[in-house]
Amino acid sequence: MGDSARLAVVSGGGTGIGAAIASTLAGDGYDVLIVGRRAEVLAATAERIGAECGRPGAVGTVAADLADPEQVSLVAGAVGDRPVDAVVNNAGGYRGGDLGTLAGMATHLRANFDANVVTAILLTEALRPALRRPGGRVVLVSSIAAQRGGGGAYSAAKAALHGWAYDLAGRLGADGITVNVVSPGYVAETEFFGDRMTPEGHAKRVADTLVGRAGEPADIAEAVRYLVSPAAGYVTGQVLGVNGGSVLGR
Ligand SMILES: NC(=O)c1ccc[n+]([C@@H]2O[C@H](COP(=O)([O-])OP(=O)(O)OC[C@H]3O[C@@H](n4cnc5c(N)ncnc54)[C@H](OP(=O)(O)O)[C@@H]3O)[C@@H](O)[C@H]2O)c1
Repeated sequence: MGDSARLAVVSGGGTGIGAAIASTLAGDGYDVLIVGRRAEVLAATAERIGAECGRPGAVGTVAADLADPEQVSLVAGAVGDRPVDAVVNNAGGYRGGDLGTLAGMATHLRANFDANVVTAILLTEALRPALRRPGGRVVLVSSIAAQRGGGGAYSAAKAALHGWAYDLAGRLGADGITVNVVSPGYVAETEFFGDRMTPEGHAKRVADTLVGRAGEPADIAEAVRYLVSPAAGYVTGQVLGVNGGSVLGR
């Protein structure tokens, strides 16, 4: 990583949508720091993207559980004195649980908020002083589940990101920093569904779209590419749905 390139931090950048975002931004000339819990996954992705974009050192890695405040400070340490051009909060996912008891439900709620909300807020707050002023960008990856339900506590957690994004956009606007949400619909070829996906589930989600296909990680990466670009400087506090038309206009 050089000191003159723009710098983007992408959480969950080792796999799926986050890896596609990291690849797109590295291809655009950014240095990218990818963050996740599994060091070996991050290292393999960083090596692959570096080779693909012809800059072997373009992608750095930090292994950290972003729900743990102490580990989040590892990311700020890796950034050092460099200004951060973009923080892309993509880490997260659905966390299951025993919904048969109130205790189980509380655990399930907290796990989904930890994975999707605490990770995003802690990382953004840790890097907030380092964001480039003016011109910094914060993106939060939510979900169509925030807009139409279907994921229980996961839906609630992703919806919480929207309110927090509006709040942060208000706080950072005067510094020339934008804050936006990208809300993906169904995206195949990631680790998100694990062994939960069935051929019927896939077909139903594709049928829900107006364009008749599953999303790809690159579809989401293109939306992020726009929102972090200088061209999007007048866009803040917005939710951009990238869902093939599965949910309309909100
Ligand atoms: N795929 C879809 O259909 C879909 C639809 C709507 C929204 N989304 C959202 O899109 C985002 C990316 O998901 P994906 O589909 O690309 O699935 P994925 O491949 O499972 O990616 C999730 C990433 O987040 C990282 N992560 C999870 N918890 C973390 C933590 N506590 N600290 C640091 N990193 C953490 C994971 O890495 P480690 O396990 O190594 O930590 C992983 O790289 C998620 O926020 C997801 O909710 C996905």
